Amino acid sequence: MTLQRLDIQHIRNITQESINPSPFINIIIGDNASGKSSLLESIFILGRAHSFRTSKLKNVISHDKDFFIVSGSVVGADRQSLRLGVKFDSKAIEIHVNQQQSHKRSDLAYALPIQLFYSKSYDLLESSARFRREFLDWGVFNTEKSFLLAWRNFRKILLQRNELLKKKQVKYIKFWDKELIHYALIINQFRCQYLEAFTPFFIESCQFFLPTSHINFHLNSGWDISKTLSECLALNLENDLRFGFTRFGPHRCDFSISVDGYLSKDVVSRGQLKLLITCLKLAQIRMLKSTFSISSTVLMDDFNSDIDFDNRNKLLSYLSSLSCQVFIAGNSLSEFGDLLDINSYGVFHVKHGHVSQTN
Ligand SMILES: Nc1ncnc2c1ncn2[C@@H]1O[C@H](COP(=O)(O)OP(=O)(O)OP(=O)(O)O)[C@@H](O)[C@H]1O
Ligand SMILES: [Mg+2]
Repeated sequence: MTLQRLDIQHIRNITQESINPSPFINIIIGDNASGKSSLLESIFILGRAHSFRTSKLKNVISHDKDFFIVSGSVVGADRQSLRLGVKFDSKAIEIHVNQQQSHKRSDLAYALPIQLFYSKSYDLLESSARFRREFLDWGVFNTEKSFLLAWRNFRKILLQRNELLKKKQVKYIKFWDKELIHYALIINQFRCQYLEAFTPFFIESCQFFLPTSHINFHLNSGWDISKTLSECLALNLENDLRFGFTRFGPHRCDFSISVDGYLSKDVVSRGQLKLLITCLKLAQIRMLKSTFSISSTVLMDDFNSDIDFDNRNKLLSYLSSLSCQVFIAGNSLSEFGDLLDINSYGVFHVKHGHVSQTN
């Protein structure tokens, strides 16, 4: 999907701006506090209906206003155009897809698959497993349409099971476990299939950025797979009753990466860790594009602070070769090095919340 036009109203220090981005690389430059991250945040909200900078959308509304609107037109590989819009007024969020009000964030996420790189992205391998599951499931969600339904059904039954555990209603737990296991195995199978296809793309991007390291990807399904999930739930029922929640299943899935036989988070430098995470994300983008013809929208905030100059240049040419739409924010054009190798790019200057395009 390519964002052809973006309209922003009342997002942080941006009062009202419209841009027509390049379908390839878009460089956003401006001083500190000019509004670069707010511009990226607007695009993120258009694709996800939430922010990557705050859990409260209220914080995103410009201080002297009582709502924000972000809208835009996206065009897919089939050349079909979709109009997306998100409005938030402190109380309710409205999502529009082609003028029709939708209740589903997933409608936006399918229309504008966003891959975000920002300072917190680089904590992926050290932070809570929830973020790694989100990373993995973003790929599965975009490539396997029935994943979302299986995940929603599983979540519903899991919440119910946890309630029953708290109330110690063992008889009903056993009844619901059949259904829980049914959806759990579907989810696990989708993830395994995804990873089988994903791993070669990941190894390829690692060879580009970390050519001397031997890198492996390990999935933990969320339970001891030498046993069936049914056995595992039965064996752990007593402890689950004590804790009041289900401790094994796909909701506890995780992954790790080893470099030269050692767990990455224990041995690699901070710079290498950032490159590994960059490779994970690039592999998802490339796999979506080459296997499913789905073009991701890539957002990169604070380009210069996370990756060194040489690797920034490599990253730009890698992104350029993917032919997907990229928005990268930095303080000045010099941070982006030699742009001669980049096929097509647009430059946007942000100043006091105003965005202007230069050639
Ligand atoms: N709700 C809001 N209403 C109005 N202004 C806001 C709001 N939230 C944040 N701001 C201000 O918007 C300005 C732009 O912030 P933003 O984070 O987009 O800047 P930036 O260009 O990314 O800066 P940096 O280079 O430091 O990352 C800042 O001055 C910030 O204080
Ligand atoms: Mg910023």
